[in-house]
Amino acid sequence: MTLRRVDLGAVDDFADGQARRVEVGGRGLVVARRGADFHVLRDICPHQGARLSDGQVTGTALECPPGAEIVLGRDGEILSCPWHGWEFDVCSGRSLVEPDRVRVRVYETAVEDGRLLVACD
Ligand code: FES
Repeated sequence: MTLRRVDLGAVDDFADGQARRVEVGGRGLVVARRGADFHVLRDICPHQGARLSDGQVTGTALECPPGAEIVLGRDGEILSCPWHGWEFDVCSGRSLVEPDRVRVRVYETAVEDGRLLVACD
C-alpha cells in the first residue's frame, strides 16, 4: 500500500494543547498539538462514534495505591472523548483502560517548512 503525504496546513494554525478536526479525502482526522509535537488520529471514538476533535487534549489520573491522593499527570498526552470520557493516548491511539482491545488509528506526521504533513493511504 502506498502512503501519500497530505499537507494539513501551517503548524501555527494548530493551537497548542487543543484538538482540531481536519478532513482528508472525506475522512475525518483529529490533530492534537502539544508544543512542537503533533499527533493525528482518526476522528471517531470506537465506543459510540463521537468526534474526538470535540474532546480535550488533557492529562489523566496516574496509578496510585487504594486510598492514596489522586495525582494527575501526562498533561497533553491524552485525548478524552466528549461523550463518555474514554481516554486515548495521543501517541499510540490506545485506550487507557483497555489498551490491547480498544484503539484509535494513528497517522504518521512530519513538519516541513512550517507545514504539518500526514501520511495517509
Ligand atoms: S462515544 Fe466516546 S466514550 Fe462514548
